[in-house]
Amino acid sequence: GNGGASGKERTLAMIKPDGVSGNYTDEIKRIIVEAGFDIFKEMLTQLDKETASAFYEEHSSRSFFPHLVTYMTSGPVFVMVLDKRNAVSDWRALIGPTDAQKAKISHPHSIRALCGKDSQRNCAHGSDSTSSAEREIKFFFKDVNSGDIASQHDEL
Ligand code: TYD
Ligand code: MG
Repeated sequence: GNGGASGKERTLAMIKPDGVSGNYTDEIKRIIVEAGFDIFKEMLTQLDKETASAFYEEHSSRSFFPHLVTYMTSGPVFVMVLDKRNAVSDWRALIGPTDAQKAKISHPHSIRALCGKDSQRNCAHGSDSTSSAEREIKFFFKDVNSGDIASQHDEL
């Protein structure tokens, strides 16, 4: 398809409050660029309760949800749109497993091993599929035109 010409895909990345307050933003951006991603959009923002709850709405019935919302609103987050071939899975691989304690053992060079604390304060987010990426990019960057996003479906 159209996206196949370049092989580019797009994903939503976020440095969570512990990553930003721990001053990991520049180091993580350097890792991102060295891994071959283009940072297409970036934004420092403070999530409110409503926004954090809507972003993680798929987890709203989980017991950890209220605490997750408290964590996600505890300070600014740094949100990015990343472009690369296989951006979704490559960014997930780079951040490592959800539980940062396990990441430190099994994926010591991952971003969550670098700056995460546990299965909640894991300092980084990545879309888990191209459809999640489309939702999450629109969630934060309403001005990203649909043609840019639609092109990633050609990669499926
Ligand atoms: P999940 O989608 O399972 O992980 P990932 O971020 O790797 O896609 O969960 C979303 C977020 O919810 C996770 O990054 C942190 C939080 N969370 C908890 O607070 N406690 C938990 O036990 C789990 C599994 C997740
Ligand atoms: Mg997830």
